Amino acid sequence: MLTIAEKQKIKTKYGPWALVTGASSGIGLELAIQLASAGFNLILCARNVQRLQNAESQVRGRYNVETKLVAADMSDQIAIDHLIQSVQNLDIGLVILSAGYGTSGLFKDVSLHTEINMLRVNCESVLSLTHYFTQRFLSRGKGGIILLSSIVAFQGVPYAAHYAATKAYIQSLGEALAVELKPLGIDVLSAAPGPVLTGFGDRANMTMGRSLRPSDISVPILRALGKKNTVLPGTLTRILMFGLGMVPRRKKVLIMKKVMAGMANP
Ligand SMILES: NC(=O)c1ccc[n+]([C@@H]2O[C@H](COP(=O)([O-])OP(=O)(O)OC[C@H]3O[C@@H](n4cnc5c(N)ncnc54)[C@H](OP(=O)(O)O)[C@@H]3O)[C@@H](O)[C@H]2O)c1
Repeated sequence: MLTIAEKQKIKTKYGPWALVTGASSGIGLELAIQLASAGFNLILCARNVQRLQNAESQVRGRYNVETKLVAADMSDQIAIDHLIQSVQNLDIGLVILSAGYGTSGLFKDVSLHTEINMLRVNCESVLSLTHYFTQRFLSRGKGGIILLSSIVAFQGVPYAAHYAATKAYIQSLGEALAVELKPLGIDVLSAAPGPVLTGFGDRANMTMGRSLRPSDISVPILRALGKKNTVLPGTLTRILMFGLGMVPRRKKVLIMKKVMAGMANP
């Protein structure tokens, strides 16, 4: 749990409104609940209206905050433009871009259509929304942007080659923007969790094994905003990262191959 002082600080610095994509499930939903507990009004975005309404009930059932639901497919630039249009008049100070998904299996067997869709959701939509909110936060004089990277972002990952590449893109973008935008009042954080038990595993057709819960990583992510450029949230994440710490990158790829071959369902 964030302390009362931490909640007040984050709300004062990044409130009153936050936009969360991927807010209907998993990590995005948990971060939205934490923000509501700090008094943020929330724009909750995902594709499925029913799941968004469930997320809204969870938030509003516990906290007295305003919510706005926007159903939008992040693989579709027109839907992203619609999202931007519909939040123009809200005083947003924090954006969490959690919408995303993974695929698994050997690259030779994957569907190009699915991989291009994933590239649009995981990378292109993040580029569009980060660019838009950078402009808004510059004129506002402050703001925060949280991007969902992953521990797979730090080396190639056989059996999830393209998913890992999308997260390497996010990690690299986030690291650079954190340095560029900090002096201009905008905090950018790349959150790079290890395995987390959410809807992710089913959609990626992966068996997750030992995993974190979204509630294990949400508070460390919010605590790191404004203090770090990258956070490795959760003890398991740090154990996995530090275990690979001194291993040369090409060997890390081979270790990841073994790990991911065990996780990818046939
Ligand atoms: N779980 C992990 O092990 C893990 C580890 C590291 C990083 N991550 C990253 O964390 C982020 C959140 O994943 P999660 O674990 O919370 O998975 P999740 O439970 O499956 O949640 C994914 C969220 O993204 C939304 N979404 C998916 N496709 C979308 C699209 N085309 N347009 C708009 N929204 C879309 C989903 O809602 P709809 O289906 O209704 O659209 C849902 O709200 C992802 O970027 C993922 O890569 C996950």
